[in-house]
Amino acid sequence: MKKIVKNGVVVTATDTYKADILIENGVISAIGSAFEEQGCEVIDAKGNYIFPGGIDPHTHLDMPFGGTVTKDDFETGTRAAAFGGTTTVIDFCLTNKGEPLQKAIGTWHEKSKGKAAIDYSFHLMIGEITEDVLNELPTIIEKEGITSFKVFMAYKNVFQADDATLYQTLVQAKKLGALVMVHAENGDVIEYLTAKALEQGQTDPIYHALTRPPEIEGEATGRAAVLTELADSQLYVVHVSCAEAVKKIAEAREKGVNIWGETCPQYLMLDQTYLEKPNFEGAKYVWSPPLREKWNQDVLWNALRNGDLQTIGSDQCSFDFNGQKDLGKGDFTKIPNGGPIIEDRMSILFSEGVVKKRININQFVDITSTKIAKLFGLYPKKGTIAVGADADLLIFDPSVERTISANTHHMAVDYSAFEGMKVTGEPVSVLCRGEFVVKDKQFVGQKGYGQFTKRAKFNELNTANEAEKLML
Ligand code: URP
Ligand code: ZN
Ligand code: ZN
Ligand code: ZN
Repeated sequence: MKKIVKNGVVVTATDTYKADILIENGVISAIGSAFEEQGCEVIDAKGNYIFPGGIDPHTHLDMPFGGTVTKDDFETGTRAAAFGGTTTVIDFCLTNKGEPLQKAIGTWHEKSKGKAAIDYSFHLMIGEITEDVLNELPTIIEKEGITSFKVFMAYKNVFQADDATLYQTLVQAKKLGALVMVHAENGDVIEYLTAKALEQGQTDPIYHALTRPPEIEGEATGRAAVLTELADSQLYVVHVSCAEAVKKIAEAREKGVNIWGETCPQYLMLDQTYLEKPNFEGAKYVWSPPLREKWNQDVLWNALRNGDLQTIGSDQCSFDFNGQKDLGKGDFTKIPNGGPIIEDRMSILFSEGVVKKRININQFVDITSTKIAKLFGLYPKKGTIAVGADADLLIFDPSVERTISANTHHMAVDYSAFEGMKVTGEPVSVLCRGEFVVKDKQFVGQKGYGQFTKRAKFNELNTANEAEKLML
């Protein structure tokens, strides 16, 4: 059935205006007013904003880590994402050295098939460059529609790749049309510092932060930027946490390097002192890179505002406090890294960003959706409200005040990283390809409705091609 969303305020990355939206066959077919309502389902969005559905560029669902597996899988994780206003997630497909990349992609399709409530895609981890890997990459881009690669500069002996691998990945990405993503921390130095801390009996969660100092993130970020410049390629730095890394990105951008940066709500809102909470509660706040000294938060907000950082990912990677995080009691290196954020990403950005006037409402749309769609080959099908785009919509009430809590969230974990935090604004209804996933704050979606979405090649620097195609 056709749908009309009426009386709302449409907000895109560039414009804010009152209009009604006509939806047919899952796609926005018209934007205007006074549409014929007969035969349509009419949704009254009076008093609400209508945003493009959020795109979360950074999730780890059903991911094995440190001998355990994330609590949220593609079913619970995407349902929680929808409650939070997100309609597409891009998850990281992990690979194993020596095994075909296609095998890893097959594993991720298995994990997600028939489970997701919203649309999804994968980034592919590159751990080594071999003849086999080089032979597989073109097919992965052309046939699988996986057009972004992730290289880890940390997690030595687990995910970490060496600099030659990063460089070669950048070269291949440039040649084939992909975007390289990096986890930028100096894994070798972290390995040394953590071993030394444990030797000295420093086992509490706070030492996770103290053995991964910000200089080490800045150094790796700068190194990756240099390799990107050398390869004349393109780079996206995930989960930027500190001033040192922002500075390296800003300097490279100033020089004309094609580099973009993502930060996450946890780095904007929480700080290193959380790791000192008693009774091992600090373990709830163990991320890599770690939470930083509070003053870094202003630097991150300013970078989002002035464009040195461009996107917000959740880095959703959830482990229960009881039974998972506590694997690291007596040894902080055994605390599974990551936290539950997928549901709160957009609400926190709206409340702390727009309401508190750190960013404007169009920037909010850009950094939570539009820019992500452009960088990762989803635009203009996703990431905006326009005729012909998928009807991925978030109907958002900006006036509601509520408190974030594990008692009310929809993620499968036993704690919230933002317990007790007050936010202004709440997703009311969420549509993915024209179908309600959340309606009046109730889940009405379906497990398995979400589709794997093939993405276009990287073309953020070459959009004229798209314009030329339309002329034909
Ligand atoms: O602590 C984190 N960020 N866990 C997830 C894995 C990663 O490095 O992104
Ligand atoms: Zn496939
Ligand atoms: Zn990472
Ligand atoms: Zn991550």
